[in-house]
Amino acid sequence: MGKDRNGEVIIDVQNVGLTYETNTKPIKAIEDINLQIKKGEFLCVLGPSGCGKSTLLKIIAGYIKPTTGLCLMQGEPIKGPDWNRGIVFQSPTLYPWMNVRKNVEYGPRMRGLPEKDIKSIGRHYLEQVGLIEYGDKATFELSGGMKQRVALARALANEPEVILMDEPFGALDALTRVNMQTLIRSIWEETKSTIFMITHDIDEALSLGTKVVVMSKTPGKILKEFSLDFTYTAIGNKNGRVKVGEEYMKIKEEIVDKISQ
Ligand SMILES: Nc1ncnc2c1ncn2[C@@H]1O[C@H](COP(=O)(O)OP(=O)(O)OP(=O)(O)O)[C@@H](O)[C@H]1O
Ligand SMILES: [Mg+2]
Repeated sequence: MGKDRNGEVIIDVQNVGLTYETNTKPIKAIEDINLQIKKGEFLCVLGPSGCGKSTLLKIIAGYIKPTTGLCLMQGEPIKGPDWNRGIVFQSPTLYPWMNVRKNVEYGPRMRGLPEKDIKSIGRHYLEQVGLIEYGDKATFELSGGMKQRVALARALANEPEVILMDEPFGALDALTRVNMQTLIRSIWEETKSTIFMITHDIDEALSLGTKVVVMSKTPGKILKEFSLDFTYTAIGNKNGRVKVGEEYMKIKEEIVDKISQ
């Protein structure tokens, strides 16, 4: 199972641990994490609340440095945030003083691309998330799901090597959430992108991920990695949903057991 589309390692997390220094006692958030993100992979991370998932994402993003171990991107140590790693958080962090289009164009403009390219990139990604008609709107005029689509388009506009998402659909209602899952799956499939996504939702992880990583209670360690191909079954399916069968249920149960240990 699991189709490696390319196999090139993009992110290499080696024996990573992180302890937060606080005013009281230090908090060991994660310990001994070894993980590779390969090109074309859709990697989903599951684990109990507080187990260090966001901490791991922030290390990969380059926001914080690990206390122990190393985190490499294409062989080079990650030294800080970079356009090559696009980030989408649970609450969309859009610039309220810019309209929707300007938000999406922000990255390419900051990188100094020619105006003509900025415009066409903006159009392309707004189209991809289904918001081409909303370019002139202010961000406060959008629903939560639309804001999250803009945040996604803004990350994609930099054509990052990897997209890091921290519970991107966590604040959305169930129906919008399913629509967003279908959207992200089709963008992943179309752009052959590499995605690292944290979620609380086991079904979301199973139905999107080509790899699912399950973390333990704090300090977070990796308990198990699953290589899956359920997401491919949804791509060919008319209703865009994964077919839930015996194998799916078996894996789901195993993950529930692991997370509640
Ligand atoms: N800046 C910080 N300073 C001190 N402790 C922190 C900091 N950020 C996180 N922690 C602690 O580190 C641990 C891991 O937090 P983290 O946010 O990575 O967990 P999580 O798995 O993302 O949780 P959730 O599923 O609730 O989002 C928690 O005990 C948390 O309280
Ligand atoms: Mg978190």
